[in-house]
Amino acid sequence: MERTLVLVKPDGVQRGLIGEVISRLERRGLKLVAAKFIQVSQELAETHYAIHKGKPFYEGLVRYITCAPVMAMVWEGPAAVAAVRQTMGATRPTEAAPGTLRHDFALSISRNLTHASDSPENGEKEVALWFKAEELTGWERSVDPWIVEGN
Ligand code: CMP
Repeated sequence: MERTLVLVKPDGVQRGLIGEVISRLERRGLKLVAAKFIQVSQELAETHYAIHKGKPFYEGLVRYITCAPVMAMVWEGPAAVAAVRQTMGATRPTEAAPGTLRHDFALSISRNLTHASDSPENGEKEVALWFKAEELTGWERSVDPWIVEGN
């Protein structure tokens, strides 16, 4: 089953929107397999955003993700990467579709509430970067036959 990293970034935490993010992903049918509320180190921030190094917004991005705690989570489901990104909406909140989290709760690309892995490959990499294997909970969800099973 596909897994993806989701971060409720400092703006989402400060604004009391952790529950809203979790609630929407739960209601979508995705399964939470790991979560931790942490202060991000400079090293983790630089590794996570290494792909953006050299871009004009890189320094601000690292400063921002390390300025206050984040809620880091792993969510699982069929096509979890696409499903989560759809629920989040476009990276630029003013381009996010109505009903998505970023449409409903954000205005600025530099304060866009959440991060979500952008491909299954990056999902695997980011989950491994943020979580130890023993932090991932392999649990049976009794409602799965009503959400993710085929016929
Ligand atoms: P995220 O999904 O965390 O991945 C990279 C982040 O960089 C992105 O969300 C935005 O918060 C941020 N970002 C991307 N483009 C810009 C930009 N042009 N200006 C400021 N921040 C940006």
